[in-house]
Amino acid sequence: MSGRASGAAPRGSSTGVYQRLFAHGLSRLDAEAAHRQGFAALRLGSPLVRAAAPLADRLLGVDPQPVEAMGLRFPHALGLAAGFDKNAEAVDALAALGFGHVEVGTVTAQAQPGNPRPRLFRLVNDRAVVNRMGFNNEGAAVVAARLADREQRRRRLPAGSGPVLGVNVGKTKVVPEDDEAAVLDDYATSTRLLAPYADYLVVNVSSPNTPGLRHLQAVERLEPLLRHVRLTADRATVEAGLRDTPVPLLVKIAPDLADDDVLAVGDLALAVGLDGVVATNTTISREGLRSHPAEVEELGAGGLSGRPLRTRATEVLRLLRDRVGPGLTLVGVGGIGSAEDARERLAAGADLLQAYTAFVYEGPAWPRRVVAGLADTGAGEGV
Ligand SMILES: Cc1cc2nc3c(=O)[nH]c(=O)nc-3n(C[C@H](O)[C@H](O)[C@H](O)COP(=O)(O)O)c2cc1C
Repeated sequence: MSGRASGAAPRGSSTGVYQRLFAHGLSRLDAEAAHRQGFAALRLGSPLVRAAAPLADRLLGVDPQPVEAMGLRFPHALGLAAGFDKNAEAVDALAALGFGHVEVGTVTAQAQPGNPRPRLFRLVNDRAVVNRMGFNNEGAAVVAARLADREQRRRRLPAGSGPVLGVNVGKTKVVPEDDEAAVLDDYATSTRLLAPYADYLVVNVSSPNTPGLRHLQAVERLEPLLRHVRLTADRATVEAGLRDTPVPLLVKIAPDLADDDVLAVGDLALAVGLDGVVATNTTISREGLRSHPAEVEELGAGGLSGRPLRTRATEVLRLLRDRVGPGLTLVGVGGIGSAEDARERLAAGADLLQAYTAFVYEGPAWPRRVVAGLADTGAGEGV
């Protein structure tokens, strides 16, 4: 494996600077405040970041291996997982840091504030994060308007340039989970508004922070939901003359599903003609952590992400690939922290990869390092 990809950062490098900043400042700041500040800096510095991207690629020797999947051409396998850019405010700046695709959201039909703060925590000894954000977002109409603006600006750029844009939709909290018609309606509203701007669409039924949401993973609930979203997306795009082909549709699942339930989702995805599965979301498990149990307990409920998730997320990916064969695109996410982890997930059957927590710990140079590390061995080629 490339030393570039996994080795300790040299003192003068941007990674070294970030790690010292993290150790002495960012990690002591409230995690959500740190996220907000980092995000604001990224948006502010966006023109600079974008202008510097080709030079950064050259310096790191990034030679990305494109991936063809779901009828799309991804610049390379690694993307940014949902939850970082919930409102699609910094898609192109994030891509300029080296992500080949950016999945925005989760977006819900109605705007909502999410859970009370604090709701985002780091477990530094585990290179992990616990969050119970609860789908805080500006709502589908606002996000759709922002994406429409972006599309206008992008018309001036050569076709096919820039990142692949994924849009992740979820249930509005106030919609009762047991009112099936209302749930279908809610997902249909966000789908109708957002599908026209999405290169691919993800139905999120796996966040632990919206009460009852994960019950929608049961096949008898999931099947009508996925069929309804499929129909709605087609009406809003192909039938409306906005696209020639249906927008690729995926479902995102939890690592806490029993193996049999993972397989059932795989079967269902094939049966309803989905394009892929994103595996996995965060876990409610707290097993195998290095952090002191009292520290973990004090944080309370939420989804755990990062290194402790790696083994189970890989297992779920492998189970799915063995079950569905080559017919579905599998997006591997959960605990990917290095090029070596990325390679392992590709070997387990992933076509595409995503990460969130390692990016938070490792900083803005991390995506490019992983992509450079993947290209070193040709991994990602032909996936
Ligand atoms: C703070 C935070 C917020 C998240 N929000 C969302 C979300 O809104 N929708 C979603 O599908 N996943 C969300 N996720 C889950 C990530 O997309 C990803 O599936 C998970 O963190 C595992 O990847 P990682 O170990 O690389 O972080 C969130 C994760 C974190 C840490």
